Amino acid sequence: MFRKTIDYDKVSKVYDKVRAGNPEMVHQILDGVSLSGKSLVIDVGCGTGNNTLLLASLVQARVIGFDISNGMLQKAYEKQSQIPFVQAPADCIPFSDESVDFGFMTEVLHHLPDIPATFHDICRILKSSGSLCIVTQSHEQIDRRMTSRFFPASAAVDKERYPDIDVIEDLLLKAGFSAVNPKEYTYSPVRLGLEYLETVTKCGFSMLHKISKEDYEKGFEDLRNAFQQSEVLLYSAEYSFVWATK
Ligand SMILES: C[S@@+](CC[C@H](N)C(=O)[O-])C[C@H]1O[C@@H](n2cnc3c(N)ncnc32)[C@H](O)[C@@H]1O
Repeated sequence: MFRKTIDYDKVSKVYDKVRAGNPEMVHQILDGVSLSGKSLVIDVGCGTGNNTLLLASLVQARVIGFDISNGMLQKAYEKQSQIPFVQAPADCIPFSDESVDFGFMTEVLHHLPDIPATFHDICRILKSSGSLCIVTQSHEQIDRRMTSRFFPASAAVDKERYPDIDVIEDLLLKAGFSAVNPKEYTYSPVRLGLEYLETVTKCGFSMLHKISKEDYEKGFEDLRNAFQQSEVLLYSAEYSFVWATK
């Protein structure tokens, strides 16, 4: 069996209720790469295909989504039948050497059991002109999350799970990439509404599965109080994109 850190087959039942694709993020990914109708693009850890399908709708290239979880892939497949969604672990994508033009992964890295092996294998399957874009968060960005305010223990948990940007850069170079280029993005502030409370209620953020019951209940009560007192919760999501060229 494949190794998993969180049971995404179970998560797949609620994932699309609490998480959507991010068009701004997908446009920023596409701004960094030149693709043609002949290009082969892979979304590694594609989940329910939200960003895969957004990206595929904007390019002529052939796009394939890979994920370890059958449950997540099934949800992706139910949305359409044009884009192939294939089960494979990130460190063993079934392609021959130098066959892929571009790979991207959004919010996947912190789930991977063997990041060096993943980078090594993606470098192997990329063409000599190929590139990889990893969308993740730096430790400073984790500290500034809204969930870190209400659930401080979740920031500590995630700084254990997420390699910081300099570590990612180092691992990419060691895996054989010739150049790496990190960029930070801050999205427009949005007022968090009841959908945020619902996501927290359903533990739609994976780090909430990893804190103690007491820490979760304390944070949930503080959050509910903030809503009851009509506090304006303005939040600007932040991401780091780490670009790697073969
Ligand atoms: C937070 S979700 C992100 C999904 C999607 N990229 C998105 O942005 O909506 C993380 C995904 O990584 C997948 N994943 C976890 N470990 C993996 C592995 N070793 N190989 C491939 N996918 C993996 C999970 O099954 C899950 O679908």
